[in-house]
Amino acid sequence: MRGFAKCVALGLIGAAVASDVHQLTKDTFASFVEENDLVLAEFFAPWCGHCKALAPEYETAATTLKEKNIALAKIDCTEESELCQEYGVEGYPTLKVFRGPENISPFTGQRKSDAIISYMTKQGLPSVSTLDKETIEGFKTSDKVVLVAYFAADDKASNETFAEVANGLRDNYLFGATNDAELAKAEGVKQPSIVLYKTFDEGKDSYTEAFTKENIEDFIKVAAVPLVGEVGPETYGGYMAAGIPLAYIFAETPEEREELAKEFKPLATKHKGAINFATIDAKAFGQHAANLNLEVGKFPAFAIQKTDKNEKYPYEQAGKLAIKDIGKFVDDFVAGKVEPSIKSEPIPEKQEGPVTIVVAKNYATEVIDNDKDVLIEFYAPWCGHCKALAPKYEELAALYSSSELSKLVTVAKVDATLNDVPDEIQGFPTIKLYAAGKKDSPIEYSGSRTVEDLAAFIKDNGSHHAEAGEPETVELRDESEMPEQAPAATEVADETVDHDEL
Ligand SMILES: *[C@@H]1O[C@H](CO)[C@@H](O)[C@H](O)[C@H]1NC(C)=O
Ligand SMILES: *[C@@H]1O[C@H](CO)[C@@H](O)[C@H](O)[C@H]1NC(C)=O
Repeated sequence: MRGFAKCVALGLIGAAVASDVHQLTKDTFASFVEENDLVLAEFFAPWCGHCKALAPEYETAATTLKEKNIALAKIDCTEESELCQEYGVEGYPTLKVFRGPENISPFTGQRKSDAIISYMTKQGLPSVSTLDKETIEGFKTSDKVVLVAYFAADDKASNETFAEVANGLRDNYLFGATNDAELAKAEGVKQPSIVLYKTFDEGKDSYTEAFTKENIEDFIKVAAVPLVGEVGPETYGGYMAAGIPLAYIFAETPEEREELAKEFKPLATKHKGAINFATIDAKAFGQHAANLNLEVGKFPAFAIQKTDKNEKYPYEQAGKLAIKDIGKFVDDFVAGKVEPSIKSEPIPEKQEGPVTIVVAKNYATEVIDNDKDVLIEFYAPWCGHCKALAPKYEELAALYSSSELSKLVTVAKVDATLNDVPDEIQGFPTIKLYAAGKKDSPIEYSGSRTVEDLAAFIKDNGSHHAEAGEPETVELRDESEMPEQAPAATEVADETVDHDEL
């Protein structure tokens, strides 16, 4: 027992001296978020690489934010599994903002110290700061992107609309407002207007149209993004959520990327608001080229992705990027004249086993355009959980192989690493049921991966409510038929998603 006591004591001393991050346990957590008005909590595991990378950034942020009465805490989920479960932690690290124990929101900023400081500082401010001639200049340059609304003191409608927009986007940008007519005049805008100040490109953008929430949000979406940005773990999510296609410029060196960013600027300006353009480090993220149906290793390269449908439009890889030709390609893309490239294995000549093999080219007929309840597994050859499921899945499929049941139920699988599927797949295996007559709203299976539970799921949630047939003896597929391991870089997720892999 003495040894134990010593460890704890040393731990406490260490924490007090070296760190401004509070390590919490299930005994201290509740009172901590009660006593501190604003807390950022990191749920982590000691073995997680992204957590290790975050640690020094988190420390730096904690020290700065301490002065603003914002507390940073961490919870080791390997020791506090109950606490982590209670807060729905599914991957590491998970960061959450607590304003008291009830008001919790996900941290959606980047995981760098300055980004954490900027994000949490915004959390501590009112969503719109009221500005005057003393404060406005400093405010304009206080973050990468800052918005200031200029409206009249009696213009309640504009005030309210702007406040609504700010409430929704306060995690991302700083919002200020002033009703001083002199300040509007000095800025050269009429009331009501909004000016977005930024540290890149033209430096600012003005919005002078009617004050509606939707139009203002659309304006911000376009104006706040650099003309030619950079895709990386920190920005990828934002680009995917932007709702417009993303054009990738792959290049291996920073010099080359900078050069290309300059060359692409006119093109990006021309398509501003319709397509986002960004460079990507082909040395670090070259494997991502494969996801866009580009050949990995042949850089520089260019491709457009329709992010909402995951359609890819790779540009022919000819060794260099001729801007003029690419301009034409992009115009054709916008005009709908370019066909998406679809990666697919060949359609199997014959379905041999009880599990129907789906590939991109027969996806529509096998999964969507029929009157069957289709259960489909999206798998990756390298995924251990998928391999463990395989024999049970065969067994399940065999239960529906009679001539009657096979008219009602298909049990299928698709190698999602070799086939472009329209579904957004977060991890492997993903199992979904496309019930007859409801193909536009598939149900994802989240139960245990047993034959009985899967059969109950098909019966309960399928339109035909088909009861599984008698088990037959099935010949199991030989494991060695599995394709070889995919390169590790494409291991997007296997059960626990480490959040920001590309
Ligand atoms: C907007 O309305 C709020 C609430 O009435 C008020 O406190 C604030 O000063 C107004 N903003 C400006 C810039 O007039
Ligand atoms: C049917 O689907 C719902 C929604 O996903 C799920 O909660 C339920 O457990 C499913 N039924 C069975 C028997 O699995």
